Amino acid sequence: QPQAQTVQELAATNRNDVPERYIRKGDNGGVLDDSFPLLDVPTVDFGLLASSTAGGEELEKLRSALSSCGCIQAINHGITSAFLDELREVARQFFALPMEDKKKYSREIGSTEGYGNDMILSEHQTLDWTDRLYLILSPEDKRTLKFWPENPEAFRGILHEYSMKLQVVAQVLLKAMARSLNLEQNRFLHQYGDQATTQARFNLYPICPRPDLVLGVKPHADGSAITMLLQDKEVEDLQILKDDQWVSVPIIPQALLINVGDQVEIMSNGIFKSPLHRVVTNSERERITLAVFCVPHPDQEIEPVEELITEASPRSYKKVKDYVSIYFQYYQKGRRPIEAALL
Ligand code: SIN
Ligand code: FE2
Repeated sequence: QPQAQTVQELAATNRNDVPERYIRKGDNGGVLDDSFPLLDVPTVDFGLLASSTAGGEELEKLRSALSSCGCIQAINHGITSAFLDELREVARQFFALPMEDKKKYSREIGSTEGYGNDMILSEHQTLDWTDRLYLILSPEDKRTLKFWPENPEAFRGILHEYSMKLQVVAQVLLKAMARSLNLEQNRFLHQYGDQATTQARFNLYPICPRPDLVLGVKPHADGSAITMLLQDKEVEDLQILKDDQWVSVPIIPQALLINVGDQVEIMSNGIFKSPLHRVVTNSERERITLAVFCVPHPDQEIEPVEELITEASPRSYKKVKDYVSIYFQYYQKGRRPIEAALL
């Protein structure tokens, strides 16, 4: 079966219009404005979060951000700017390879790993203006190396190193999240489990002739526990829905943008919010990002932490298992996946 055309190929041949399948419809229809207010995403110092003595103020900043906009700009996270730039560079080099070289890593039918365009899950789906390379990072024995580019040469080594560094960042964050709610520090980490998986998605958003009609990624909340995004250094096209308004997420080149996913929303009994977000398209610049999803093992049961269920804040979510599968079933039907977990 031939691979579907990538957006990169499409963009190279259609310089003035876009196929019908990419045009926003239904709830998302209508013409997009071209200017959005900037969201004030709090920066959180991970050096402070990591120390068990200091950090009271930083914990409060974390708690307040995750319970309002659902995201933070993580700084001082132990990954140097030079390293993040190298990572951006190998991503750029990969997407710049000739198509036939990239297609060696093409996703196979029925699988999510590998290189390709937006997954076509149903016939009526409006497609996202994006190509991606999707790779399991951990546990290491779950990696499918045939999808890991060997060109550029540094790609595998750098991605492996990034994966190791992010494990540390995730641990610091999950512990700090618990402490910020006056819980024992392993309260979220226990449910997250030591069998958790991390998955990387490199995203390319080619130049789009109709940013007024086409989205890079449709509005969604993430099905992960947490998501760590390395933003493009210059193109600011990620938006979050805040108080019913789409607002742009500013770029801080040395920061990781970390957002709550549905599974942390569930574990926190709704205190931490999994934000709705989307990506707009751009008629002047292409954009490249790297999202890493931190996901509990599919056999791991997820539910609100007991201490967070009180008379004033009753339990809002059921116990769920393999939330990611539930997530895709709902997503495919155009429903909000978190509804599956609501009591
Ligand atoms: C996503 O949320 O799916 C992608 C985010 C981004 O590329 O900015
Ligand atoms: Fe997302």
